[in-house]
Amino acid sequence: MLCLGIESTAHTFGVGFVRSRNGAYDILGGHKEMYVPPKGSGIHPREAAAHHADVCDEVLQTALAKAGVRLEDVNVIAFSQGPGLPPCLRVGATFARALAARLDVPLAGVNHCIAHIEVGKLTTGVRDPLIVYVSGGNTQIIAYAEGRYRIFGETEDIAIGNALDTFARAAGLQEPGGPKIEALAKNGHYVELPYVVKGMDLSFTGLITEATKRLKRGASLEDICFSLQETCFAMLTEVTERALAHTGKRDVLLTGGVAANGRLAEMLDTMCRERGARSYVVDRTYAGDNGTMIAYAGLLAHEAGALLMPQQSKIIQLWRTDDVECGWLSTAQEQH
Ligand code: ATP
Ligand code: FE2
Repeated sequence: MLCLGIESTAHTFGVGFVRSRNGAYDILGGHKEMYVPPKGSGIHPREAAAHHADVCDEVLQTALAKAGVRLEDVNVIAFSQGPGLPPCLRVGATFARALAARLDVPLAGVNHCIAHIEVGKLTTGVRDPLIVYVSGGNTQIIAYAEGRYRIFGETEDIAIGNALDTFARAAGLQEPGGPKIEALAKNGHYVELPYVVKGMDLSFTGLITEATKRLKRGASLEDICFSLQETCFAMLTEVTERALAHTGKRDVLLTGGVAANGRLAEMLDTMCRERGARSYVVDRTYAGDNGTMIAYAGLLAHEAGALLMPQQSKIIQLWRTDDVECGWLSTAQEQH
């Protein structure tokens, strides 16, 4: 069975393909284009949506060519149904409905966060990990229990990727800020910044305000980038370690856009080794938003019999990971 996945929750419009055969899944890949806001400003939802509408046909054609498949061979169309920016989500949902009607194939509505988790599991082979999901819109420590992904810790304010991007903008760096901060941090030294862990939850806004203040007062950009990473990542590692102890899981999976950060992967790996646990990182190609992860999660849901009628395909702007009914996941969990 061949699934076409469409991603359009925020800055990225992506199309990707996954094929299943006798219970095995082949990632065929795809293509994506990213909306980059003007320097100094954050993402503007309507402009990002206009970008997605402009590039969708071209992205589809390039994705088909890269994956080496024909549109006529697609059996199911999956799309990011939420959470995300409504104007962006609507472009993806409309494109999905049009393709499904044209090909006369069913739709699968995918929770974007679950797709980040599932593609992490597929690309690493890990079965039942504690999940550290870090991206521009989310920061959650998650574990699967009794038919649902449960959240053990999360941010109380902004997500870690958003925090890094906000600081990067204040420092005059081009979006996305995470990779720029990672590169600059390589030459930095530690200065103390606020470390805010509250029980199992985290807070990043005070840290970003203080880092920005220090920079304006003349601290070196490299030092602040280094310290920002060390502080945010140590906070995350602390909560992850406690969640490991609490859940008794033996594996940790790092996934989401910020999973591309080598220093974060290293810190989590050190903590895991000290506890006799193992750490895994999603394949870098599928760390940031992409259509392939949507295709995979959609295929799992579809194969488990989750039917989505066109009238149920409205976008879901706010759709928490632990709100997703995933009876289908327990089946998938057992099979893998
Ligand atoms: P979600 O809806 O899952 O929150 P998203 O819209 O944030 O998705 P992703 O592509 O999952 O999109 O994540 C993007 C984030 O990842 C951005 O904040 C970006 O700065 C961050 N990022 C990308 N590469 C790195 C890196 N090397 N180090 C740190 N952060 C990174
Ligand atoms: Fe994402």
